[in-house]
Amino acid sequence: MSRSEKTALPVTDWINQFHCGDAIEVARSMPDDIVDTIVTSPPYFQQRDYGSDLQIGQEKSIDLYVRRMADLFVELKRVVKPTGSLWMVIGDKYIKGELQGVPWRVCLALKDTGWRLRSDCIWHKPNAMPSSVKTRPTTDHEYIFFFSNEKDYFYDADAIREPHVTFSENSKMKGGRNHFGKRGGTPEAGKNSGDNNLHDGRWDQAFHPKGRNKRTVWSITLSKFRDAHFAVYPQKLVETCINASCPPGGVVLDPFSGAGTTALTAKEMGRDFIAIDCNSEFCQMAKDRLAKRCR
Ligand SMILES: C[S@@+](CC[C@H](N)C(=O)[O-])C[C@H]1O[C@@H](n2cnc3c(N)ncnc32)[C@H](O)[C@@H]1O
Repeated sequence: MSRSEKTALPVTDWINQFHCGDAIEVARSMPDDIVDTIVTSPPYFQQRDYGSDLQIGQEKSIDLYVRRMADLFVELKRVVKPTGSLWMVIGDKYIKGELQGVPWRVCLALKDTGWRLRSDCIWHKPNAMPSSVKTRPTTDHEYIFFFSNEKDYFYDADAIREPHVTFSENSKMKGGRNHFGKRGGTPEAGKNSGDNNLHDGRWDQAFHPKGRNKRTVWSITLSKFRDAHFAVYPQKLVETCINASCPPGGVVLDPFSGAGTTALTAKEMGRDFIAIDCNSEFCQMAKDRLAKRCR
């Protein structure tokens, strides 16, 4: 099907479907401005063979890998609404004991194409595989880069707040308890007594009833999906991205869908999805997974 024929397809033909093919080719056929947020974990550089001639990640050099990723995300920028965003989970690579900085190379290449970098979050994996390395620390994190398409973008900070640590209902700090959830309140006694700062930004940090603003280190255990012989990312991680960046009823895209974790999570959260993968067996596996869980 030619590009013009395919783009003429109604948006409904894209939504809640698994599209099998090279992500860039599929993206070229997609209409403009139909996606609220992309949540994805691309194949990492020379990490795993996904059994397709079309796959990204097996390039001879990091430069070629980065260029291919940048080309894809230029195309996807067009597909994402101006208010939309992108969350990319990506890990690094050691070659002969030297860390290559691949996530940042990809990140900066995307920045150069116009994606606006908003946050470099760390996915900390408390149950990461132990390693036998003796000359450096064991890696137990990956990056989660958050980009917006344009200057103004949809972001629901309240939807992903986290529990207060310094102050809480149980806080022993004198005065702290009485002000929990009351804007404009400051402890009338105690070390912050009469502190005007608490009327502004620090109130949010210390007493907001929904918790403090989300931090950049996300500690989430690795999860498994029996049918997949590759790593799937945790639904909890995907949930956070969707809650922050996709309004209810909106559309989440994963151009590297694998076992369909993004699609499944989106559906369970009342959002629509568009999933792409170059391996038809994985597309089928994801469809079956969704059919079982979202009857
Ligand atoms: C890291 S896995 C994604 C796993 C997924 N996040 C999950 O939880 O199931 C990367 C996926 O990208 C797919 N892939 C690799 N190159 C691709 C390409 N050029 N176009 C589309 N999909 C591709 C692979 O087949 C693999 O399923």
